[in-house]
Amino acid sequence: MRRMAQAAQSPDPDPSPASGPLPGAIIALGNRMRRRNGERPAVPQAAADAAAIGLKGVTISFALTGGARYTAVDSADLTVAPGEFVSVVGPTGCGKSTLLNASAGLLRPSAGAVEIFGRPLAGLNGRAGYLFQQDALMPWKTVLDNVAVALETAGVGRAEALDRARGWLRRVGLANFVERYPHMLSGGQRKRVALAQMLIRDPEIILMDEPFGPLDAQTRQIMGNLLLDLWAANRKAVLFITHDLEEAIALSDRVIVMSAGPAARLVGEFPVSLPRPRDIAEIRLDPAFHRLHKEIWSHLRVEVQKTYGPGETA
Ligand SMILES: Nc1ncnc2c1ncn2[C@@H]1O[C@H](COP(=O)(O)OP(=O)(O)OP(=O)(O)O)[C@@H](O)[C@H]1O
Ligand SMILES: [Mg+2]
Repeated sequence: MRRMAQAAQSPDPDPSPASGPLPGAIIALGNRMRRRNGERPAVPQAAADAAAIGLKGVTISFALTGGARYTAVDSADLTVAPGEFVSVVGPTGCGKSTLLNASAGLLRPSAGAVEIFGRPLAGLNGRAGYLFQQDALMPWKTVLDNVAVALETAGVGRAEALDRARGWLRRVGLANFVERYPHMLSGGQRKRVALAQMLIRDPEIILMDEPFGPLDAQTRQIMGNLLLDLWAANRKAVLFITHDLEEAIALSDRVIVMSAGPAARLVGEFPVSLPRPRDIAEIRLDPAFHRLHKEIWSHLRVEVQKTYGPGETA
């Protein structure tokens, strides 16, 4: 993948600091002290330094009827560091969901490897929480129970699960909706419930596939800001799939561009050094945002046009 020059250097680098991951050196020091005291190291050094997600030469091909195969993704190399927010953009059908599903352990690569915190992923990725375009709320359960059940299935007692679920619903702005059922909620409110349902389990990695896709533009912005606030308070590694380049830039530390398929490749990588904390609506007015958008779009447009053909422009 070509690493693109930082097209839109912001004069004010990211000031938000301390909520990020522990630097390896501090973990190493802690481990040394524990060893001296006869204790086991808290975090294996290799794992402490490892990327949260590491895709190494990942190729994914699907068997088609009649014995043919379709290669969706070819030789993808991608890392997401602990605490880093990375978005992947690319034309429809290029393989974005396929990549995400491989990171989730829902799909096994035909070649290459998926590593989670330095260890090969075998089976489902239990260290990740998922948020897909369609939420999976249970219609027969109240909002409160929909969130609490995420803890109950992990073995937490009901009283504590309900208590923590109330806390999370307050954080996502739904304190007054706990007794409602999903069909009594707006699309944006349902997304808030799904977000609480995922975050309550405190996953180390968050995988999101067009999570705000069906929402109107204004609600998308509100959800984007909510996501950024929650992420800033407790930074996780995020792999975020979107077709919306503005959304990708506004949210991310890095934007990855995928080529059109078949055999799609990761063809561009753009660091986003816009200052944080960000407001999704206001950051779009920053001249540095415009310069970066123009730069990434000049690459993305080529891939989009391959997908739609020369007669149509995106
Ligand atoms: N099970 C499957 N069998 C055969 N082909 C598949 C299968 N799943 C996905 N594909 C193909 O792989 C390619 C990538 O699909 P994928 O869903 O990852 O695209 P995407 O980039 O997420 O698209 P969109 O933006 O429309 O969601 C597509 O051409 C799709 O038709
Ligand atoms: Mg998709």
